[in-house]
Amino acid sequence: MCESRNYLDWNGKWNVLIYIWLMISILDIRSSSAEQVKWDAMCPSNCTCKLDNLKSNCFQRQMKIVNCSSTGLSNFPVNVSMETEVLILSSNNIKKLDINKKLKKLQYLDASNNKIHVIYHLEKLSRLKTLDLHKNSLIYIQNGCFSGMKYLSTLDLSDNNLHAIEKHAFGGLNGLQRLYLDSNKLYFLEKQWFIGMPSLRIFHFSRNFLPKIENNTFENMQNLIEIKLIHNKIQRIEKNAFHGLTELSMLDLSSNKISHISHQHLQQMKNLKVLRLDDNPIYKIHNGSFHSLNIKMLSLRYMPKLVIQKAFFNVPLLKTLYLHNNRLVAISEKIKRSLPSLRNLHIYNNPLRCDCNALWVKQELAKEQATNYVSILVDDSVLICDSPKEYSRMLLKQLPVSVFHSECAARTIPLFNSSYNINIGEEMRLECHSIGIPDPEIIWILPNGTTLQGSVKLDRYEVINNCTLAVRHIRTSDGGVFKCKANNTHGYDISNTSVTVSNMPIHIYTSSISADFVTIGWNGTSYWSMVSDYQIQCRDTHQSSLSYQIIHLRPFSNHYSYTFKNLKPQTTYEFCIDHHVAIYASGITRINSKLVAGVCTTFFMTCALCCGVAIAKKFKKRKDYLDPTAEEKGDFLPQIPLENLNNPPSTPLCSSRTALISAESNS
Ligand SMILES: *[C@@H]1O[C@H](CO)[C@@H](O)[C@H](O)[C@H]1NC(C)=O
Ligand SMILES: *[C@@H]1O[C@H](CO)[C@@H](O)[C@H](O)[C@H]1NC(C)=O
Ligand SMILES: *[C@@H]1O[C@H](CO)[C@@H](O)[C@H](O)[C@H]1NC(C)=O
Ligand SMILES: *[C@@H]1O[C@H](CO)[C@@H](O)[C@H](O)[C@H]1NC(C)=O
Ligand SMILES: *[C@@H]1O[C@H](CO)[C@@H](O)[C@H](O)[C@H]1NC(C)=O
Ligand SMILES: *[C@@H]1O[C@H](CO)[C@@H](O)[C@H](O)[C@H]1NC(C)=O
Ligand SMILES: *[C@@H]1O[C@H](CO)[C@@H](O)[C@H](O)[C@H]1NC(C)=O
Ligand SMILES: *[C@@H]1O[C@H](CO)[C@@H](O)[C@H](O)[C@H]1NC(C)=O
Ligand SMILES: *[C@@H]1O[C@H](CO)[C@@H](O)[C@H](O)[C@H]1NC(C)=O
Ligand SMILES: *[C@@H]1O[C@H](CO)[C@@H](O)[C@H](O)[C@H]1NC(C)=O
Ligand SMILES: *[C@@H]1O[C@H](CO)[C@@H](O)[C@H](O)[C@H]1NC(C)=O
Repeated sequence: MCESRNYLDWNGKWNVLIYIWLMISILDIRSSSAEQVKWDAMCPSNCTCKLDNLKSNCFQRQMKIVNCSSTGLSNFPVNVSMETEVLILSSNNIKKLDINKKLKKLQYLDASNNKIHVIYHLEKLSRLKTLDLHKNSLIYIQNGCFSGMKYLSTLDLSDNNLHAIEKHAFGGLNGLQRLYLDSNKLYFLEKQWFIGMPSLRIFHFSRNFLPKIENNTFENMQNLIEIKLIHNKIQRIEKNAFHGLTELSMLDLSSNKISHISHQHLQQMKNLKVLRLDDNPIYKIHNGSFHSLNIKMLSLRYMPKLVIQKAFFNVPLLKTLYLHNNRLVAISEKIKRSLPSLRNLHIYNNPLRCDCNALWVKQELAKEQATNYVSILVDDSVLICDSPKEYSRMLLKQLPVSVFHSECAARTIPLFNSSYNINIGEEMRLECHSIGIPDPEIIWILPNGTTLQGSVKLDRYEVINNCTLAVRHIRTSDGGVFKCKANNTHGYDISNTSVTVSNMPIHIYTSSISADFVTIGWNGTSYWSMVSDYQIQCRDTHQSSLSYQIIHLRPFSNHYSYTFKNLKPQTTYEFCIDHHVAIYASGITRINSKLVAGVCTTFFMTCALCCGVAIAKKFKKRKDYLDPTAEEKGDFLPQIPLENLNNPPSTPLCSSRTALISAESNS
């Protein structure tokens, strides 16, 4: 929007030119002073009107400015001159901005810091270039709100209370270059917003509630050079989210909930120079995440989960790399070798281990002290050792070089906690890395002593990428202490975690009972997200066959009782609730449903007179263990061995005189 001036190169005829110039200047002064008079005369009360440069912007000439800032205005001022080019209404008390007059010369309107919640007749400002509405009370923007404002190049709607913006709200803003929507309450980023704004260069959407970035959101936005999405709630970025951003140079995704960023996301932005991912729950940087990108500045700071930094493979232009204030124990030496353009590396405030892994850092510092060499390490005065114990809290710079050997024993870097409580049927993943020179190998030691080394698969156990142990459809017998061992020629190190596998806390009880019917109730079925199906089963325990009457329950159903009728008196029945887990292949497709576990209880149907006495003897409870993978028969139903639970089934009994039966046994 800044108009550049043309400087013509004239030769000769200086006298004539100077004369003409003088004449023009005189005329100019006259006309402008004449206008100045008229201008002042037309000034709305309490406002100031002057011809001046607008400093904050790039209009490079003197403009007719009406300044009504902080004058207590509660409406659009009356009697604004048609000549006005800049109108400042900021810091007033305007609630409804009703533009009462066509202002065809108005280029700049600042109505920020008011209480505007509605705007009328924007179309009267057909030549407007900048509209500043930040810090107002706008809630909603309708389709067509800005139609006809084809010269608008800057629109600032930040710091409002926007909850929704319709899909075609920005229709007609064909010349828009800067759009600021920060600090609102927006949950969506609609790709339709951008359809009418092919010239958009800068888009700010920080401090909103965006949960994800969808595929092709910025498609066809070849002119976008800067996107800021700081402080949203972004957790997921779809694979093609950044498709089409061929000119994007700056992307800021700081302070979100992003745990993973892949090369596939980034490669779509061929011209990306600056990328900020600070303050996200990323725990690992993969070797290839940034390869072949033209990034010059990469900021990966303040990530309390970032403990693993693999090398940066082929990022040829990367000059500045921020890795400080993370949880990195070691910074790979390969970082230096794989980043030929690196000049500024910030690694302070990490819990560095001062052994062979930090040798290259020490050498880098020593070189700088001894010669004029300029280290790539920035702020070496805060490079502090965290381990081994004897060097803890010491400045790396002050430790003698002799402390740092060229090789040292393996250390584990476990990404797991000291214990886990896992529900039966779920998948457990434990991830473990290592440092040490030479490169250690990782060995998993299962609770029963079996070791798994390298990327192997054993039954439901699998080691993925040499570092992640996955246990699928976990059973109670899988519980115990899992150990990760890192080993090299200089020694080994072990980390462990204790895993307890729990059944689900389902309780069954009778809510009413007579000689031939029973109503059973239960709780605990409403929680578990992986459960796709529940069934109640009922069986006469006197019958030798294990045939159950089956009642399907919808998952998350709100009904927590069921009545079985026409039961035989003097008979023990077994009631079970079991639950099933959908088994997913590659995360998406449901391929099967398998029984995982359940609870059972038995009731003895009797007559009113024999209540209570011999019950304990007659009641049984099933405690078999269910093996979800043992049977591949798609529909498993009739014989269901059920696992006993850590939480035994509940035991409500003859709580009143009419309740005849109790079912309790706890062997
Ligand atoms: C101008 O300012 C004075 C003093 O602040 C105030 O009393 C008066 O109402 C204002 N006039 C208008 C038209 O706002
Ligand atoms: C408008 O007036 C306010 C207060 O008088 C002043 O702070 C501000 O700089 C002025 N703005 C312009 C563009 O002259
Ligand atoms: C606006 O201009 C009209 C005509 O010049 C005049 O009568 C009126 O008093 C002015 N209003 C204000 C608030 O200055
Ligand atoms: C996003 O695009 C990727 C790659 O084309 C595709 O695999 C994925 O299914 C898309 N996601 C959605 C939600 O459409
Ligand atoms: C990084 O990846 C590249 C290409 O896959 C490979 O050549 C290189 O050895 C890897 N570096 C490390 C440290 O894993
Ligand atoms: C470890 O425990 C903390 C606190 O309970 C939790 O926030 C974190 O996600 C756990 N980490 C892993 C890898 O499970
Ligand atoms: C140890 O557990 C694994 C996984 O369940 C199993 O495959 C293996 O046979 C067990 N080894 C022994 C000696 O029990
Ligand atoms: C796993 O370890 C083996 C042997 O140490 C190695 O050859 C292989 O490349 C490693 N795989 C991965 C994905 O790191
Ligand atoms: C540990 O590494 C040493 C040397 O590489 C090797 O001899 C030993 O067998 C390894 N131990 C295990 C348990 O792999
Ligand atoms: C697990 O590790 C902790 C601390 O590292 C140690 O105290 C404990 O003895 C280990 N447990 C087992 C079973 O190895
Ligand atoms: C289910 O009921 C039992 C017994 O009344 C109670 O102790 C338990 O907390 C309940 N469980 C849930 C998940 O509501």
